[in-house]
Amino acid sequence: MFGYDIGISGGVTSMDDFLEEFFPGVYARKHKAKEDNYCKYDNQGLQLFTSSLYLAALVSSFVASKLCTKHGRRLTMQAASVFFLAGVVLNAAARNIAMLIIGRILLGVGVGFANQAVPLFLSEIAPVRIRGALNILFQLDVTIGIFVANIVNYLVSNIHPWGWRLALGLAGVPATMLCLGSFVIAETPTSLIEREQLIEGLAMLKKIRGTGNVDAEHQEILHACEMARQVKQPFRNLMKRSSRPQLVIAIAMQVFQQFTGINAIMFYAPVLFQTIGFKNDASLLSAVITGIVNVLSTVVSVVLVDKVGRRFLLLEACGQMLITQVAIGGLLFVNLRATNELQHGVAIWVVVLVCLFVSSFAWSWGPLGWLIPSETFPLATRTAGYAFAVSSNMVFTFVIAQAFLSMMCHLRAGIFFFFAAWIVVMGLFVIFLLPETKNVPIDEMTEKVWKKHWFWKRFMDEEEEERR
Ligand code: BGC
Repeated sequence: MFGYDIGISGGVTSMDDFLEEFFPGVYARKHKAKEDNYCKYDNQGLQLFTSSLYLAALVSSFVASKLCTKHGRRLTMQAASVFFLAGVVLNAAARNIAMLIIGRILLGVGVGFANQAVPLFLSEIAPVRIRGALNILFQLDVTIGIFVANIVNYLVSNIHPWGWRLALGLAGVPATMLCLGSFVIAETPTSLIEREQLIEGLAMLKKIRGTGNVDAEHQEILHACEMARQVKQPFRNLMKRSSRPQLVIAIAMQVFQQFTGINAIMFYAPVLFQTIGFKNDASLLSAVITGIVNVLSTVVSVVLVDKVGRRFLLLEACGQMLITQVAIGGLLFVNLRATNELQHGVAIWVVVLVCLFVSSFAWSWGPLGWLIPSETFPLATRTAGYAFAVSSNMVFTFVIAQAFLSMMCHLRAGIFFFFAAWIVVMGLFVIFLLPETKNVPIDEMTEKVWKKHWFWKRFMDEEEEERR
């Protein structure tokens, strides 16, 4: 559902029928021969259609965090699906911009709820050995959603004049799947025990592990719940020094994830490809190609993450993303002026480089941006801390969605160098400040990771002293 919404808006915003109905100004500009290549789509309203979803998700993730703690992961997912369904109906039936934007806002609330509950659910239900891989299935579904949206955009773009309605309406399919699925799945043992349903919690743990021999894990969960109970106000606790390492890392992972520039591609690939001179069909088809690369490369991450570890994947990707961003920026800088068309050969190179960029993101910052914050917080601050992670992601997703087309108009090819500079910063962050969390049980992070890290341990030491 999240992925479908990411992938669908860029295609829809590049469709003439949609532009003619809601954004006649952009439509007229797009078809003016002399219009500046880099500025065709620079329109705040158009960007708001994409970005409003993330603003709503940002606010709702805090409500979702409370709901998740008080009423469980499962109910939060059910609530998400109701918002999704309402948003889809408004969007597919839209007669004016207000209906479009309100629909996107409802979808955004759904995203806030679902992105809070689903990764937590996965991290809590997973056996430790494959926690990373299982958690990444979330990201894999996101990429499949984007890919399906890319295909739908391609197929409906020739259905006039209502192809875009079909594209927005088909979001009802994953929304219905989430709705039905959330009635079928189990609640996590941690959430049951946290809500004092001790017997059910133990029974569920035995059921999902397929054995009665769950004592050690049960004890860990009980201990974590006991610690969590002593914390009356998780948000205030999160502001304490001892939570600083996890909080900084959770937020940084999300900010960095967005400043790789991935969503410039995911949201606006069709628009971007039109900018470099592809015709409608070719640009939608190129988006399908980047979509499939995204899915396949995420599978690489599922296989490797618990073997080679988080840090290795992140650092390899920093190198690959840096080279590709600089190369794309360089090619466009030299070859794409305000009103010329890119030579075919160069345009193909741009698509190849975009694919290489997307693949490295997909096995690293994409999934790990969600995985790491879901596994580093102790239970006492887990949902609250994770809410900060989700909402920071949404703030910066919003910023990119709202600003990218305008930034491209002003910075031109330089936009790619802007992202490249961020990639250098995030590489340094990983080298010095991000500890490896591979194979560490989720409720033993503090002891095994934070108290041992060269920099972050000082926050733990001071907390101990305070307590004494
Ligand atoms: C990010 C999205 C992005 C997607 C691309 C996710 O992890 O949060 O913003 O569009 O990956 O696959």
